Amino acid sequence: MNIIPKHIAVIMDGNGRWAQERNLKRSEGHKAGGKSLEQLALYAKKIGIKYLSVYAFSTDNFKRSKEEVDFLMNLLIYYFNEKLDRVIKEGVKVVFSGRRENLRTDVLEAMDNIVKRTKNNKDCILNICLNYGAQEEIVDATLKIHEDLNNNIIQKETLNREFYYKYLYQNLPPIDILIRTGKEHRLSNFMLYQSSYAEIYFLDKYFPEFNSNDLKDIINDYQKRDRRFGNVKTN
Ligand code: FPP
Repeated sequence: MNIIPKHIAVIMDGNGRWAQERNLKRSEGHKAGGKSLEQLALYAKKIGIKYLSVYAFSTDNFKRSKEEVDFLMNLLIYYFNEKLDRVIKEGVKVVFSGRRENLRTDVLEAMDNIVKRTKNNKDCILNICLNYGAQEEIVDATLKIHEDLNNNIIQKETLNREFYYKYLYQNLPPIDILIRTGKEHRLSNFMLYQSSYAEIYFLDKYFPEFNSNDLKDIINDYQKRDRRFGNVKTN
């Protein structure tokens, strides 16, 4: 039986270089990346993927030029308010991971709106990591745990690696497949806790070139991989 992965995560890298190599503005690359994401979400939902996490904007992306940050924020608002309608109609529920601080009020409003509009959808959860950093997530979780321990809401004995998930931004299952497009081979502070046993795929393509056939190939390969989770093979 072919096992469909439950949780796929994607570092959507290479929008800027895709555009620059075509003598286009970097913003054109982000627009093209948005289209790829739309296709990816629809395809993932169609084949029964329950959780799709994507890296839309890292805490460190604020180091980019104001022009690029502003463009990205406006693009995200456009996606949340209008462009993701088809994805929503197909039953996708949108949630966010990341810190709210430093985000513009209009971005926060658009985020809250799409969360509200999709809260009853059940087919697939699209977890958008925005103003996100994995180390920040672990620090934030640790602070919440410290508070709950102090207030006797939890006991020291309750805490273990499964329970820790409840304190992350979203309590999602561990990642089965982690994909990075954009020809770089690093994790860039993305979902480090949840990726502990993920099968990792680095793609020699920029994100705007990523399509459903690539995802199909990755899943086919994943189904052949021997996931031992630290154990040894018994047969
Ligand atoms: C990385 O490429 C990509 C981003 C920082 C933004 C990702 C955003 C989208 C795909 C737009 C739509 C998103 C949503 C959630 C609707 P890069 O700019 O780092 O590329 P480079 O490495 O070539 O410079």
